[in-house]
Amino acid sequence: MTISFIAAVARNGVVGRDGSMPWRVPGEQRGFKAATMGHPMVMGRRTFESHGLLPGRRHIVLTRDPDWTAEGVEVAHSVDEALFLVGDEDFFVTGGAQIWALFAAYADRMLLSEIPLEPEGDTVFPGWPFTDSPVWREASREPHDGWTVVTYERRKPRAQVEVGPRIAASAEAGATQIKAGATCAIGDGDRLLLTRREDNGLWCLPGGGAEIGETWSETAVREAREETGLRVAVDSVLAAYSRPDVVIVYPDGRRRTIFGVCFRAHVVDGSAGTSNEVTESRWFTAAEAARLPIIPAHRPLVRAFFESEPGTTIFD
Ligand SMILES: NC(=O)c1ccc[n+]([C@@H]2O[C@H](COP(=O)([O-])OP(=O)(O)OC[C@H]3O[C@@H](n4cnc5c(N)ncnc54)[C@H](OP(=O)(O)O)[C@@H]3O)[C@@H](O)[C@H]2O)c1
Repeated sequence: MTISFIAAVARNGVVGRDGSMPWRVPGEQRGFKAATMGHPMVMGRRTFESHGLLPGRRHIVLTRDPDWTAEGVEVAHSVDEALFLVGDEDFFVTGGAQIWALFAAYADRMLLSEIPLEPEGDTVFPGWPFTDSPVWREASREPHDGWTVVTYERRKPRAQVEVGPRIAASAEAGATQIKAGATCAIGDGDRLLLTRREDNGLWCLPGGGAEIGETWSETAVREAREETGLRVAVDSVLAAYSRPDVVIVYPDGRRRTIFGVCFRAHVVDGSAGTSNEVTESRWFTAAEAARLPIIPAHRPLVRAFFESEPGTTIFD
């Protein structure tokens, strides 16, 4: 998966004024259409409203408004939710400034149509200009009549981590502790199953690192069984989280930025026990869980389990 920014940027960094683009450069938009055609586009709600639905491309629109919808659009409320919706495909972040800023740490390359004008504007491309940037280097420059398409690439590509037994980290990442994996929020009525680890005594959700060839949900189900002896089935995604600095590479070559997934799940068979990794497993209500020492990364997942409707997808 390659994440590309695409934008038309004036010499002074301006990209917008009063909700639209402060210039007309005939022909420039053809390059945008050709580059993005057939690929998902991730954009802000304001940018979407400035141009509406464009044919032949998925629109994933970010908004904080839980009720906002538009026909033909997939709605996301966070970076992680947008990444999860995109899946494995190469995609474009088409703006505006707020959304480029949100994805700045994720972008692999930027295709910028540089416009030789200095218009007044209220919206500026974040980080502009990129001459002498420590992060970006100019990879190519293609002159047109009235604009120049400049491609920037990351000087140091994002690290690649291969999904393998307990997650093999690449030497380049230099981070042998990196684990991509999945957890299960196993529910039974108004109670949630938590397990306690021998190593730190903190409570957490069952889960762990993916093994070669597994999907996220297969990891979650296997880990739940290994740790508690329960057979569980997943119902929906409770949360998905990304690491901007890392690309997960699957054995079949697929690449994703999503780093971990937590599933809402239910018990199919068995009663919760212990294992060599888990010294205790118990069911807790929301009030009981609120008083427990829970590993910090799992605290928001526990809260999301109790606060969200079953079947909904929560990503923050
Ligand atoms: N020159 C170019 O290539 C180009 C390309 C695209 C856009 N533009 C211009 O840029 C301007 C629009 O850019 P903009 O920066 O004002 O707006 P934007 O990035 O298009 O959209 C901002 C909106 O995105 C949502 N959002 C922001 N952060 C979020 C987060 N963390 N989680 C969830 N949703 C989030 C919010 O929607 P809600 O308010 O609904 O919560 C926010 O109002 C326009 O003038 C447009 O014409 C220029």
